[in-house]
Amino acid sequence: VRGAKCEVRGARSEGEAGRTTMKARRKGHKPWGGRFAQATDPLVETYTASIQFDRRLYRYDIQGSVAHARMLAKCGLLAKAEADKIVTGLHEIVGEIERGEFRFDPSSEDIHMAIEGRLIEKVGEAGAKLHTGRSRNDQVVLDLRLYLREEIGLVRRLVAGLQRALIGQAESHLDLIMPGYTHLQRAQPVLLAHHLMAYVEMLERDRARLTDALVRVNVMPLGSGALSGVGLPIDRRFVARALQFRSLSANSLDAVSDRDFVIESLAAFALLMAHLSRLAEEIVLWASSEFGFIELPDAFATGSSMMPQKKNPDVAELTRAKTGRVFGALVALLTVVKGLPLSYNRDLQEDKEPLFDSVETVKAALSAMAPLVGGLAFHRDRMRKAAQDGFLNATDMADYLVLKGVPFRQAHEIVGRVVRRCLSKRCRIEELSLKELQTRFSGLFDQDVFAYIAVEACVDRRRATGGTATATVKKAIGTAKTRLRSG
Ligand code: ARG
Repeated sequence: VRGAKCEVRGARSEGEAGRTTMKARRKGHKPWGGRFAQATDPLVETYTASIQFDRRLYRYDIQGSVAHARMLAKCGLLAKAEADKIVTGLHEIVGEIERGEFRFDPSSEDIHMAIEGRLIEKVGEAGAKLHTGRSRNDQVVLDLRLYLREEIGLVRRLVAGLQRALIGQAESHLDLIMPGYTHLQRAQPVLLAHHLMAYVEMLERDRARLTDALVRVNVMPLGSGALSGVGLPIDRRFVARALQFRSLSANSLDAVSDRDFVIESLAAFALLMAHLSRLAEEIVLWASSEFGFIELPDAFATGSSMMPQKKNPDVAELTRAKTGRVFGALVALLTVVKGLPLSYNRDLQEDKEPLFDSVETVKAALSAMAPLVGGLAFHRDRMRKAAQDGFLNATDMADYLVLKGVPFRQAHEIVGRVVRRCLSKRCRIEELSLKELQTRFSGLFDQDVFAYIAVEACVDRRRATGGTATATVKKAIGTAKTRLRSG
């Protein structure tokens, strides 16, 4: 620390701009060091540094700097040769980072200063001009927007992958009837395909939410400066075009302090994880001996170190659990911005770790869930049998009476008594004789009631859009596939 102090003093005593630039690279000296007589306490350096995690933004930081440098040259704020030197230097730095040669020094504070520092080391004075008309406050938002724009694209593609896995299973089991549940009690028969397509719909809304969030992510903040805009003659549109942004931020104070786009993306990720967690929970349930509906693919299941017979649904369980991290990230970020005065505050640096962690979590969960779903084997007989037991056709039996003019409430009451009778006789509704139905319950029952309440008939009667009839589900699958094809 003492040595660093001397160096800082040394740097301050150099009058000339060029020599200060050289000194600026001496260990421990900060680009903002000019105003400070004392060196930063190492504790503060560690506490405030973000380079350990924001280093992952390096590509976007450099992409932004290249566009910024070209703009400065175009506006006459940099000589063309200087801009060329900067761009070449920046490209070399990408190589250094990717080959693992770049030294991420915590005293660099963040990735923006680390890259700028290295650039100055490499190309000298031209590099020291890069930060003209720019602040880290608008720079960091730019990086984050570029990062999120790319990651949202990747997440959307992974969601589509999981949708395809669900659709694939739905198409291969179009004839498989299972119990549909409410309150986790058997309720009415449905197609397994219909059940799987319910998740495809949830995921479709997730994709739509991400697309919508992208509109507000895709805004170019550079040119906002530290907070009030930039006084030099810059060209924001040039930068926006170079980086393929759809629009420019409209208010500099807002631009440097806005993290809505992060929060919106996290909200979309959180809901997506909630959906994955529901799917995961059903996989866990269905894989149990109690349900016995599915067999997990060996490659996506795990064993027990103690119990030799076990085959566990750990992938689904972890997905269910990882949901909490993403919910947590959303709450963390909402809490960070709540009560923040305008404009930039260092609090905003806390946006990165929760965001990065959420992006990685969501991508990992989707990547694991798609092949898990694709590899599920369904125990057709168990599912089919479960659909036969439990009086799943009771509603349709009531509807049968309704079609004969019985008010629904009365029909409900009659069939309720039929069910009670079956419970005491330990039989299915269709196992009662027509005679018994007619004499004990209603003279309106006829021979055709048995065909009417067959589970296949119950399923195939539900043809209105959104229902479980085979033809309707086939159509839903077709629609979903078209939607996926169009992006
Ligand atoms: N590392 C900072 C962040 O992530 C960059 C912006 C810092 N700006 C500042 N004036 N200290 O938010």
